[in-house]
Amino acid sequence: MTPLVSGFSKLSKTDKIKWLVEHHFNNDQNAINVLTTYWNSDKKLQKLHDEFTENTISNYYLPFSIAPNFLINGKRYTLPMTIEESSVVAAASKAAKFWQNRGGFKAEVLSTVKVGQVHFSFTGDQKKLQAFVAASTAKLISSASHITNNMEKRGGGIVAIELRNKTDELDNYYQLHCTFETVDAMGANFINSCLEQFAKTLLVEAREYTDFTDQEKDIDIIMSILSNYVPDCLVKASVSCNISELPNTPQLSSYEYAEKFVRAIRIAEIEPYRAATHNKGIMNGIDAVVLATGNDFRAIEAGAHAYASRNGKYTSLTHAEIKNDIFTFSIKIPLAMGTVGGLTSLHPLVKLALQILEKPDAKKLMKITAVAGLAQNFAAINSLITTGIQQGHMKMHLMNILNQFDATEIEKKHLVNYFKTNTVTHSEVVTQIEKLRS
Ligand code: MEV
Repeated sequence: MTPLVSGFSKLSKTDKIKWLVEHHFNNDQNAINVLTTYWNSDKKLQKLHDEFTENTISNYYLPFSIAPNFLINGKRYTLPMTIEESSVVAAASKAAKFWQNRGGFKAEVLSTVKVGQVHFSFTGDQKKLQAFVAASTAKLISSASHITNNMEKRGGGIVAIELRNKTDELDNYYQLHCTFETVDAMGANFINSCLEQFAKTLLVEAREYTDFTDQEKDIDIIMSILSNYVPDCLVKASVSCNISELPNTPQLSSYEYAEKFVRAIRIAEIEPYRAATHNKGIMNGIDAVVLATGNDFRAIEAGAHAYASRNGKYTSLTHAEIKNDIFTFSIKIPLAMGTVGGLTSLHPLVKLALQILEKPDAKKLMKITAVAGLAQNFAAINSLITTGIQQGHMKMHLMNILNQFDATEIEKKHLVNYFKTNTVTHSEVVTQIEKLRS
């Protein structure tokens, strides 16, 4: 068993690696080589990355790709995408190209309100608590003015503070359910700082509230934290065209294609097993843009899946319909994203990604990201209802398999050519490599 280590974070980077290699790699120098190969020779840049988090011993590369040709609200964008899955960027680009000749994507932000809660226990008269919170709201807000001043100058701040009674579900449980506008910031630090201030003020005010008994004054703060469920920070994106403009093949007419597409979406709407995979495909596009632009993909994931379950049953984030021969495909998704704060001005590639998008504000980034999700879903459903997913996926994965076998450039050229007309499977690639090498 690995020995317990204390004070680890205080060790130098070299000593951390020494410890790791001693206890996990039997002092194999190769492990050190792997880790140090990924160090950046620019010491300042490396230090910046080291300081993003604790116990950093190397850098973890993911591909930074771009998907061009996204026509969104009449303007063309190139999307930065950070993702390891081989086929995602190709699929996004393909969908972008398809829709650019059919009017492009339309996107609109429906709302931008974010949520945070002070969770507390209160034993006493509910009516008195209600009166107390109503009387204290102005004080709660003003007590956070040192946090909200700057945000207010930028057009944001606290939107509302509401007492919510949750005692039906948990004894003595109440919340201050608070809403915020954080403009171009994702706003996590701003919201959490406000909430912690509200909690402090709530306690002070309760102690001084003369209508409370001693027991009622003794409010117990459980925790103060933002919510990643942001159903009112919502963006909608859509595409539409006449059915006759949809793919038309001998196997599937445009009309049949449209019907099959809508039915595939209906399945994701009613069947949670399918919805999870369907939404995962949407998140392939969303997360790639979220990550490239330095946003918090775990927050976005949590929010998206919570929203997909908002009616008590997990369902699709996209919808499709045919009306009067017009095919419409759309997504509605909560996206609490920022273009200032966090990594946005720190990580050189994040800065570059935002430049590629021509320095969008948060609303524009929400629209672009929702479009990435819709495009990804379109590409996935298009493959699923026609060729199946593996054809495109394995074609893109071919290079990974070839690299696993250390294929030379000449071998790669030969095999890429061979698989233009043959189905890619792992075993077939292996067979062909062996054949070539013998
Ligand atoms: C793979 O990463 C994503 C898909 O499974 C999505 C889907 O099934 O819709 C292709």
